[in-house]
Amino acid sequence: MKVAVFGAGGLFGEEIADVFEDSGFEVVRFKHRTDGDVSNLADIESKVAAIKPDLIINATGYRNPDDCKKNRDIALKVNTLGTKNLAFCAARYDADFMQISSDSVFSGDTKWPYSEFDVPDAKTVYGFTKIRAEEAIRTTTNRHFIIRVPMLFGFKGPQKENLMFDVWDKARSGTYVYGATDQIANPTYTKDAAQALVVIAKSKYYGTYHVSNEGMGSRADILSEMCLQKGLSTDHIILNHSEVKFDLRSSYTVFNPIAFRTTFNIRLDDWKVALKRCIDDYEMFFKAGKV
Ligand SMILES: NC(=O)c1ccc[n+]([C@@H]2O[C@H](COP(=O)([O-])OP(=O)(O)OC[C@H]3O[C@@H](n4cnc5c(N)ncnc54)[C@H](OP(=O)(O)O)[C@@H]3O)[C@@H](O)[C@H]2O)c1
Repeated sequence: MKVAVFGAGGLFGEEIADVFEDSGFEVVRFKHRTDGDVSNLADIESKVAAIKPDLIINATGYRNPDDCKKNRDIALKVNTLGTKNLAFCAARYDADFMQISSDSVFSGDTKWPYSEFDVPDAKTVYGFTKIRAEEAIRTTTNRHFIIRVPMLFGFKGPQKENLMFDVWDKARSGTYVYGATDQIANPTYTKDAAQALVVIAKSKYYGTYHVSNEGMGSRADILSEMCLQKGLSTDHIILNHSEVKFDLRSSYTVFNPIAFRTTFNIRLDDWKVALKRCIDDYEMFFKAGKV
């Protein structure tokens, strides 16, 4: 089975491409926008037509909420139009389509865990573009999987924007970093989520699924746990509230993954256990000279 992964140079996309390859799929990687700009339909259509994939995975994104608010047109072009374009290519060239969506489609105001059947109500520009992307998919192809994931950690993709490397570097140099105590979700290891995507893709059980590790934590909790598990100090982490950000952040987007758990009978590890594996995996990669 041939899979085209768009966004394969990113934190999640590189992991998805690696995990699908390890699971026996033939993977064609579109790492950067220079390999195919999803907002340019003619560009990506010719590429999809040439490789004829059985599955297209969209792991591209313009995902910093503050940038999305400042550059609304870019956010709409990449997150919404880009998704619509890829879904169109999937429909035209007879492929399944898998979209990486986000817990940011929810406002967090309800304060109860969100199932796949709750109605998205994002207040942020980023969340709005992801909701509109989901809607565009549903009207373009029935053969879709919409996968919502919460805040991710991992070590693939560019190192310079990676949360884990950033908080470690700042611990070593004694530079302050802010950690919001009011942004609460199910932190998730990219590899665990990618392995779940393989199961979902193989099943052909199309639909919307919430995929995350178990357990919840705030952004401040994640940053602290990353340092503690690495044997670093947490003194440089300043606790704050997300209201100081330029755009809003969803406050409580914990998942109640009724559809995912019931359909696939999968429960991923608790996020702190997954974080330990992530750090071990990174150290193995590092020793092997792969990163
Ligand atoms: N990271 C998280 O915590 C998180 C949480 C929830 C959902 N998500 C979703 O997961 C997906 C992947 O996120 P990520 O964290 O892996 O993002 P990332 O590390 O920022 O990677 C984004 C990827 O998209 C590519 N891209 C950007 N604009 C493009 C365009 N116009 N055409 C083609 N490719 C383009 C980038 O290529 P360049 O190298 O050219 O920039 C990069 O490979 C996104 O849809 C995001 O909304 C992420």
